Amino acid sequence: MAEPAHQPVMVRQVVDWLAPRPGGLVVDATVGLGGHAAALLGACPGLRLLGLDVDPEALAAARERLAGFGERSELVQRSYWELAAVLEARGIEHVDGVLFDLGVSSLQLDSPQRGFSFRFEAPLDMRFSGGGVTAAELLADADEEELVRWLVEYGEEPRARRVARAIAQARRRATIATTTELRRIVTAALGGRHGKIDPATRTFQALRIATNRELEGIPLAVEAAARALVPGGRVAVISFHSLEDRLVKHALRRLSGRCVCPPGSFACQCRPESLVEVLTPHPARPDRDEERTNPRARSAKLRVAARRAS
Ligand SMILES: C[S@@+](CC[C@H](N)C(=O)[O-])C[C@H]1O[C@@H](n2cnc3c(N)ncnc32)[C@H](O)[C@@H]1O
Repeated sequence: MAEPAHQPVMVRQVVDWLAPRPGGLVVDATVGLGGHAAALLGACPGLRLLGLDVDPEALAAARERLAGFGERSELVQRSYWELAAVLEARGIEHVDGVLFDLGVSSLQLDSPQRGFSFRFEAPLDMRFSGGGVTAAELLADADEEELVRWLVEYGEEPRARRVARAIAQARRRATIATTTELRRIVTAALGGRHGKIDPATRTFQALRIATNRELEGIPLAVEAAARALVPGGRVAVISFHSLEDRLVKHALRRLSGRCVCPPGSFACQCRPESLVEVLTPHPARPDRDEERTNPRARSAKLRVAARRAS
């Protein structure tokens, strides 16, 4: 099988920040095609790695990629939402590091039949796990205000209302079932390409995030990771858009003992805890070379925190 064409981002920084040690255990909570996992295992001969992903196709590719590391890696089809339960079921009390590399992989984007990309004619599926509600079903059921919210929050689409209205009008005539139909509707609503990105890019991102409920589990998963760490152990999170990054920033800030309630709140509701120290007050970014050679890296931000001793 050909090497999967997913270039993991910020690999050197991830390995440096997680500083794997022989005999240690690292969780790759979004193992994907195993790029980061292979780098971590390769950097430290005695390291063991537990990899999670919800996508069976990604896990199959990771399994093949990590086969050479033998029993040092274990891969399971579970969501990082369930991180605490996955560790508990294995009797694992502490881990040395946890990595989250959020979002979508190139394997998913480049698989024509999975419906993540408007580059290919395909049913509007977009599910990471292959289970649950498809993007087409979601699009058929959501009310217009909800569509606007997704487009604004998940897609950062400046003309969200116009797109939502066009979708609502189109689906009254017929179900929007394929990638090309959705793209045609969005392009007609927004006009052709003005800047560098295709007019449908933001809508597709919003719909993918909504379909997989990508943002909901992040704060709890980051908290579960922080709780599982040994003193000095590290959690590293790579995110690709501002809403994701804000959730990560707030989760780590709260877990470092700082209040993240909205300004002007009457009383603190967020219950800060002094579990970790944030090591990246500003997120780490890919270097120029990586930005040049890997377009996915351009929006990447890496935040890292270390578990406090007590
Ligand atoms: C950016 S890719 C990770 C790539 C990986 N770091 C590599 O080097 O190949 C993100 C992965 O997270 C997975 N994913 C998305 N939501 C998840 C969840 N709730 N739990 C576990 N994995 C998830 C996706 O299926 C995808 O494979």
